[in-house]
Formats: sequence, C-alpha cells, structure tokens
Amino acid sequence: MTGPLVVAIDGPSGVGKSTVGRELARRLGIPYLDTGAMYRAVGLLAERSGVTLPIADPDRVVALASGADVRVTGMAGDARTYLDGEDVSAEIRRPSISLYASAVSAIPGVRRQLASFQRRLALSGGGVLEGRDIGTKVVPETPAKFFLDASLEVRARRRNLELDAKGRPEPYEKVRGEMEARDLADSTRSDSPLRCDESYVRVDTSNLTPGEVVERCLAALLSLGRASEEAG
Ligand code: DC
Repeated sequence: MTGPLVVAIDGPSGVGKSTVGRELARRLGIPYLDTGAMYRAVGLLAERSGVTLPIADPDRVVALASGADVRVTGMAGDARTYLDGEDVSAEIRRPSISLYASAVSAIPGVRRQLASFQRRLALSGGGVLEGRDIGTKVVPETPAKFFLDASLEVRARRRNLELDAKGRPEPYEKVRGEMEARDLADSTRSDSPLRCDESYVRVDTSNLTPGEVVERCLAALLSLGRASEEAG
C-alpha cells in the first residue's frame, strides 16, 4: 500500500486496544483515532433523544446520526469527542452508553456514515485506528493489522480493577455479564461483525503488559516494513 501508514487495531471490549493504540500512535508519531468513541457519541445522542433499547426504529437513529456533528479531535494523549460542539468525552464512558453504542453500531446506515468518515481520515493523514471493523471494512487494504485478544475473565477482571481505581466499583459478575453480552452482539451482528482472519497479527494479551503488547506490535510493523522493502 502506498500512502500514509495506517495501523488497524481490532478486538473485543476491554482488551486494552485504547492503551496500546495510543502508545503505538505516540511512538510512531502518527494520529490516533478511537472509532468506538464515535459510536458512543451516536449512542449518547440516541439516549438523549429518548430512543429506548432494544432499538425499535433504526431509521430514526440513522436520521439522528446524519443530522449530528460527531468529531474526535486531538492526538493520542488528549483525544476528545464532540457531539454538536459539546465535549462529551466523559459522558460517553458511562456504562449505559456502552450498551447504546453497541446497539447503534449494529445499524448499517450508522456504520456507513461513520466508517466512510473514518476511512477518509485514515487515507488522508494515516494513523492508528482502533475499533471492531478497521481491518475488515474501514481500511482492509492496510497490511498493518492487529487483533488483540484475551479471555473474557481476564478482560472483565482488568475492567473491574480499572473501575475500582476510578472510585466507581462494580461487582465482577455484572462487569463480566455486560461484557459478554456486548461481545456477543458485536461479533454476531450481520453488518461488519468483529472477526479475526488470517490477514491480522493476532496478539493474546492475557499474560502481557500493555508495554509488551506495544513492543510486539512495533516489532511486527518493522518486519512488515522489511518484507515490503524486499518485495519492492
Ligand atoms: O470500543 P468501544 O467499547 O468504545 O466501542 C463501543 C461500541 O461501538 C462497541 O460495543 C462496538 C461498536 N464499535 C463498532 O461497532 N465498530 C467500531 N469500529 C468501533 C466500535
């Protein structure tokens, strides 16, 4: 692929994609885009507009999304999400918005809008893009694709500790149950389900620190670069 470097990071929730993606972008000196934040902003808009779950009228959500201005700005360290000019970076992290984001992300008309925006951004300036469909739909042609994975138990335990550290403790069983339900929805929806194929470098992060995952990704990128130089 010619053009700017685009690194795709996909994987289930709570696997550490954001931590790794941010650090990778910083080390590579390229932009970072958390595509999940965009689905979360549309989810927040749906919630604020009185849409209830499960979504009975997807066309209404598509119309809401097309009338909205969703922006993710800033580099890795200080990325912010704006919905119609309002900074919603903190609000989109509420647990109820995780459910809304997953529900709106199953609507093809919403996906089309967000994915085409993400693709344009990636192809114009390059970057590390993190999500569920980056390597399958948004920039399938990039050779630099990572699928981060870890068992449900490991991911739920990590999220649990994270919530404790933030002073918002939640029972482990609840965190685990919600994560499992969201993963199932994200990987079984008909449009762009989360899926790892042979074009990805799969990294099991269960026994690795985020720093170790970043090092593995950087090493894989180096060898991809060498392979393409040799081929060229
Ligand atoms: O990564 P996250 O948890 O912030 O993502 C929120 C939801 O958005 C997730 O449940 C699935 C959806 N999503 C998606 O379908 N495609 C993406 N590229 C990113 C997120």
